[in-house]
Amino acid sequence: MEQYLQDVPLNKAYRLLNLGATALISAADAGKEDVMPATWNCALDLEPCKATVVIAKDHYTRPLIERSGYFAISVPSVAIVQQVMKLGTVSKHDDPQKLEHSGATFFKLPNFAMPLTQGCVAHLIFKVIPEAHNQDAYDLFIGECVKAVADSRVFREGHYQYASADAQLRTLHYVAGGHFFALGEEVMLPEYGLD
Ligand SMILES: Cc1cc2nc3c(=O)[nH]c(=O)nc-3n(C[C@H](O)[C@H](O)[C@H](O)COP(=O)(O)O)c2cc1C
Repeated sequence: MEQYLQDVPLNKAYRLLNLGATALISAADAGKEDVMPATWNCALDLEPCKATVVIAKDHYTRPLIERSGYFAISVPSVAIVQQVMKLGTVSKHDDPQKLEHSGATFFKLPNFAMPLTQGCVAHLIFKVIPEAHNQDAYDLFIGECVKAVADSRVFREGHYQYASADAQLRTLHYVAGGHFFALGEEVMLPEYGLD
């Protein structure tokens, strides 16, 4: 394998890790709401489920998270890749009608104010665990999951079931610019079981 290794400029190194599914982050506070994609999201703990997400300081979505203490992570599918890019290339600071102009459609879960995007295969709602240093220094927010729903066409019995699902329902994996991958082939190791 070593003969295939090539140097990657350090300013492009993060792209090597951009294989997790790109998410849509939603938040709402005092009648204001917004949605933006975030590739820098990551599971952090099992029980209770926790996750991290990086939200830059200049994004309209960020103070909605800080003030409300909640955010949602939704997992968009190939079917809405155009809408994901619109939500990620326009700030609501610049276009107050950003959500309407994105072409996406939204709904809400009972008891939660943030708009969730139609065409996502999963939605998880998180309560922020405040960590001022992480938020200030690294734009890193930690949340504890308080609600999770998933599309039963692709997530059943605790597993994503993509071998049989429509290709439009595959998750999106962002690299940079307008470059995404859709989730690839399943690799199964039966000797480790299906927890
Ligand atoms: C596919 C994609 C992934 C992105 N990932 C992140 C991310 O992980 N963190 C971040 O702060 N911004 C990320 N961005 C940028 C924001 O989504 C973008 O600046 C957005 O317009 C902010 O919207 P807002 O100002 O209305 O909140 C991403 C953009 C795209 C297109």
